[in-house]
Amino acid sequence: MYLLKDNVYSVGVVDWNIRHFHESTYIIRQGTTYNAYLILDQKNVLIDTVHKCFENQFITNITRIIDPHKIDVIIVNHIEPDHSSSLSRILALCPNAVVYGSQKAKLGCLKYNEIDSIKWNIVNSGQELNIGKRSLKFIETPMIHWPDSMVTYSKYDNILFSNDAFGQHYATNKIFDDEVCCSTLATEAQKYYANILWPFNSLIIKKLNILKDLKIQMIAPSHGVVWRKNTLKIIQQYITWASDKLKDKVAIIYESMWHSTAKMAKQFLEGITVEGIEAHLFDVTKTDKTDILAYMLDSKYWLIGSSTKNKQMLPIISSILEYIECINSTARFSLAFGSYGWSGESIKRIENILANNTIKLQSAYSVVFNPTVNELKECFHIGKKLAIHMKRKK
Ligand code: FEO
Repeated sequence: MYLLKDNVYSVGVVDWNIRHFHESTYIIRQGTTYNAYLILDQKNVLIDTVHKCFENQFITNITRIIDPHKIDVIIVNHIEPDHSSSLSRILALCPNAVVYGSQKAKLGCLKYNEIDSIKWNIVNSGQELNIGKRSLKFIETPMIHWPDSMVTYSKYDNILFSNDAFGQHYATNKIFDDEVCCSTLATEAQKYYANILWPFNSLIIKKLNILKDLKIQMIAPSHGVVWRKNTLKIIQQYITWASDKLKDKVAIIYESMWHSTAKMAKQFLEGITVEGIEAHLFDVTKTDKTDILAYMLDSKYWLIGSSTKNKQMLPIISSILEYIECINSTARFSLAFGSYGWSGESIKRIENILANNTIKLQSAYSVVFNPTVNELKECFHIGKKLAIHMKRKK
């Protein structure tokens, strides 16, 4: 339990050992936190709860500050079980508490907590709740991260309780951004955005515009540390990611059965490297896709390759492209490549998916079976040509 400001406490828990978030879809190396906040005023307010596995620790944290019976209001910013699955237990301890959340959140809370009714005040964007010295403002943020999501703003404290937005999967016993390793924090914030929020870029831009009107000193998310030193920086970083302000770097990503596609990828890299352009080579069987997506997020150029097996792409590269399919943007450039033995359907499939959200650099480059010396030279030449094109555009 930590003090953010007078009478504003962080009462969440640290999950040091979690390595798979959303089951296998998000590999996290640093663990995470489930943050919740307690505001003491004429009405005592709990903002969000925590994952059910940690409800005992959560109750202990609250009890160190007040008797849970004295909680008057529980705000549910978001119903995903990492933030709401201990709600039933908390409600049992504070039977007089009234819950505030969006309409969609109410339905979700009833279903996830398997309860029939709940004292629930449905709130809409812009609505405020007076709790004494403070007035708490609710701003709905649907799809950041789920349809029910909202954030809560305390003008008195200049704190935005942002739930999933601005989060990081980063377990620490520190509370603020300036107390932890800034490089790890930056890495985890980028990975979080890429894997949780990227598909909602256009919605994020709209909501960030609303936030411009608020004086925000601190952002208190539901995962990771509270932003107090780099508050403006992380908002600016979100604007950069959401508006596709990209870096001149190349993500070369491939999955290969017998090293042929891998050989092509390496020659693209060589060609780019001799021209001094930043690029990273990803064999998807060696690097987790969540880390690859983090690199792709701010890369202007994607080269994506796969062997063809049974008329399909190989499975890991396929799962990356499925995620990319829902990114609605044409700010990037791409090239599909790969080797094949019969008809090479995977390369066409990659090209088609990329055509929805990137500009084609040139026709897909494919080779039959194993690339010849001349074909590898051509890959090198393509990489070099791309790098020269990038330098001219700088
Ligand atoms: Fe951290 Fe969308 O839950």
